[in-house]
Amino acid sequence: MLAVHLVSFFFSKLQEDPTKKVDRFLHAMRLQDDQLIDISKRFLAEMKKGLSAESTAAAAVKMLPTHVRSTPDGSEKGQFLALDLGGSKFKVLRVKVREDVGIRKGGVEMEEKIYPIPKELHVGRAAELFDHVSESLKDFLHEKNIGLEKRHPLAFTFSFPCEHPSLDQGLLVSWCKNYKIRGLQGKDVVQALRQSIGRAGDMDVEILAMVGDTVATMMTCGFDDQCCEVGLIIGTGTNACYMEELRHIDLVEGDEGRMCVNTEWGAFGDDGALDDHITEFDRDVDAASLNPGKQTFEKMISGMYLGELVRLVVLKMAKLGLLFDGRVSDALRTKGKITTADVAAMEEYRNGLNNTRNILAHLHLDPSPDDCIAVQHVSTIVSFRSSNLVAAGLAAILTRIGQNRNVRGLRITVGVDGTVYKTHPQYPKRLHKVVRRLLPECQVRFVLSESGSSKGAALVAAVAQRLTSQRRKVDEALSLFTLNQQQLQLVKSRMREGLEAGLKSKGSSVKMLPSFVYHTPDGTEYGKFLALDLGGTNFRAMLVRFKRQKSRLYHKIYTIPLEIMQGTGEELFDHLAQCVCDFLDYMGLKKARLPAGFTFSFPCEQSGVDTGTLVSWTKGFKATDCEGQDVVSMLREAIKRRNEFDLDIVALLNDTVGTMMSCAYEDPQCEIGMIAGTGSNLCYMEQLKNIEKIKEDSGITRTDTEMCINTEWGGLGDDRCLDEIITPYDAEVDIHSVNPGKQRFEKLTSGMYLGEIVRQVLLDLTRRGLLFKGNVTETLKTPGIFETKYLSQIESDRLALLQVRSILQHLGLRGTCDDSIVVKEVCGAVSRRAAQLCGAGMAAVVDKIREDRRLERLSITVGVDGALYKLHPHFSQVLKETVKVMAPQCDVTFLPSEEGSGKGAALIAAVVRQKQEM
Ligand code: BG6
Ligand code: BG6
Ligand code: GLC
Ligand code: GLC
Repeated sequence: MLAVHLVSFFFSKLQEDPTKKVDRFLHAMRLQDDQLIDISKRFLAEMKKGLSAESTAAAAVKMLPTHVRSTPDGSEKGQFLALDLGGSKFKVLRVKVREDVGIRKGGVEMEEKIYPIPKELHVGRAAELFDHVSESLKDFLHEKNIGLEKRHPLAFTFSFPCEHPSLDQGLLVSWCKNYKIRGLQGKDVVQALRQSIGRAGDMDVEILAMVGDTVATMMTCGFDDQCCEVGLIIGTGTNACYMEELRHIDLVEGDEGRMCVNTEWGAFGDDGALDDHITEFDRDVDAASLNPGKQTFEKMISGMYLGELVRLVVLKMAKLGLLFDGRVSDALRTKGKITTADVAAMEEYRNGLNNTRNILAHLHLDPSPDDCIAVQHVSTIVSFRSSNLVAAGLAAILTRIGQNRNVRGLRITVGVDGTVYKTHPQYPKRLHKVVRRLLPECQVRFVLSESGSSKGAALVAAVAQRLTSQRRKVDEALSLFTLNQQQLQLVKSRMREGLEAGLKSKGSSVKMLPSFVYHTPDGTEYGKFLALDLGGTNFRAMLVRFKRQKSRLYHKIYTIPLEIMQGTGEELFDHLAQCVCDFLDYMGLKKARLPAGFTFSFPCEQSGVDTGTLVSWTKGFKATDCEGQDVVSMLREAIKRRNEFDLDIVALLNDTVGTMMSCAYEDPQCEIGMIAGTGSNLCYMEQLKNIEKIKEDSGITRTDTEMCINTEWGGLGDDRCLDEIITPYDAEVDIHSVNPGKQRFEKLTSGMYLGEIVRQVLLDLTRRGLLFKGNVTETLKTPGIFETKYLSQIESDRLALLQVRSILQHLGLRGTCDDSIVVKEVCGAVSRRAAQLCGAGMAAVVDKIREDRRLERLSITVGVDGALYKLHPHFSQVLKETVKVMAPQCDVTFLPSEEGSGKGAALIAAVVRQKQEM
């Protein structure tokens, strides 16, 4: 009999097992691993949707870029004020970060004060809330005796979804958790704070950075653990951020490096993606919230809702007679009567049941021991579901990071904060366990953010402050290259003075060399000519045939090795003779004694069209025994020495003159020739009566009225008249050139020197720690690494930063994307100035021609050549714009020379020949 009783007792006990009925009742909340994996996959898909430009507008999970690009590297420093708004407590702090010390050795010191926010302010107007924030800040400054005499940088943790156009701007997407404030949605929160700080008065505060709590938490933990690339909050709300590859973030320009993305995962499910897991209790919680239909995932997970979920379940079970013999109290019916702290207490290891009984008693319920076990179990299921869902979300983020890095066994640290994680006794362990089960290959470390988010926010601000101060220094360096209208006017008038002085006498810095070319071609030129072209990037030999206003050209290009450029004169001219010999061989013309024009692109003092003595080498040439010599004779002698062919050299000319002639053949309005290449120079048709020094010299009397003058404008400034605009970088380039003190204008404007100026700037910025992490490499110290072609490539608008970086790498300069941006800016500043200076010089020339001809308006064409003009992406445009502004009464057309100056040389040879034959 006793046995029967015992069996029925046990049987009834079994039937009544309170946890079983709860399990059955909350079946939908007990998520199995396969369901979690499925949720994780769905979240992974949501992340992609949020990142992509096409789908982000419709995505529930916003994936907001934060403009935080790196985790702390230990170089951060400074003293900051911090505000922490949006978690369970509003805090004002002072954070001191000492450089290179590290947190454990006291690298960061913090003082904080919690300021309660009155309930009505949670649902009031934005200005009221921020005025409270500002007054609290003011109180804090006062209490901590923080002086007002200097400006205080401030870091702001604001834990609501915001779009960040930059680090110090945040447009509020929506309020959530326990806040619903009027009049801030879509507006800049930083600006609102700034205004209210202004209203509070007596504070000089600069808001450097605004970040969400996940980002700040990641940074806090990242200070100690460099592997920390995920930030997680399980507090009043829930959210996570992580370091994403920039190339995957469509909304931010740039394709290299990483940026922290604030997932705002609380909104996962707002589009119905979690509907199959939503229970009637979730629906009730949502309906009673401040933001129905929003933050679906958050409402299943975070501290603000866990207690309420437990209450609703317990209430329902009681109503169904599954608890408290069907009795319900008013307190149990009241929203908010079970809190997350209660949930944590109910699940405490030893005292859990005791706590549960007390909590229920407090709700005026009279629980049996089984009721207590059941309610405790409800609490466990609700909080377990929460940690399971967090685990699923986190697994998706970690999977994504693994995919980005293409690694399987990812090692990573997750920085965590929030009252649920910090105070619920079982939560961390459960979460860690499930994440590791879902991702067995991943080595995840969880680090609790002991000191809250403000340390991290201050670190972000410290980086921002460093970048701002670096930016200012870079801007200051680049501003040296900015020329205002006044300075450009000055250059124009100095150029005009130079032109006038050079026409009067020899020895002027602008040499104004007569070319003995009296007019541009008229189309009657005919015959076969040889043209030689020395002085640009290459030496060219060319055969030109003129027939009935048409020309045909054959040419070959030869490089001039540096040792020849800087060897003896005889070696140089022997080399030229050898190249010509090769060309005649190639053309099968070795036997013919062709008339030849010789473009020699250096300053030559000419006394006739077929003779000229080299005044001085320019552009890096320095072959000995040439200066002061007749270069035509030197070439003739070299041909004689070779004794394989003969030439009839009938004309010697500068490349500017050749270019003008060549273009004038196409356009009779072309009366100016310009070179913007290795060197910089200009020639133009001047009235003979103005060339006073010829009249003195040779007493020429001719019927011609004009002569082309090779200005050799590159020499402007050799008398120091440009010193006002010359920067220390230019001075450095000049000192190290082969002709210090000479060709000062050319050294500001031509391809041979622009790269060197850029290199000097980069060297200086690097030495000052503003570039390449302050690492001055041998490459950077090497003269000549920046050829014009690299400048042109780097400045090309079509090039992504990544390509700029690879050009720099090709040059042996390894830097970050930010370094590439600075290098590009330096190139831009230097080349823009060059184009503006040429524009100012050109304006002086065209205005002189216009005035000499007594014209109200002048319409004129400039024939142009040179790699800088032809290949640089912006030079020609800036040049044209400057001429337009500086010479408003002149309509200047620029005509690029198609076939180089060789054709012009042949044309002059043809004219001379025709005259000789007459
Ligand atoms: C704090 C952080 O430690 O945790 C806050 O400093 C954050 O920035 C908060 O919002 C999150 O937890 P809870 O529970 O306060 O919302
Ligand atoms: C060439 C001309 O096209 O351009 C040369 O034929 C001239 O005479 C040269 O010197 C200038 O450009 P760069 O860039 O080669 O110095
Ligand atoms: C809410 C906010 C989010 C914040 C989280 C934790 O989800 O939208 O920005 O990170 O709460 O505080
Ligand atoms: C240098 C030369 C000049 C030449 C120019 C362009 O300035 O001195 O003669 O025209 O370079 O090549």
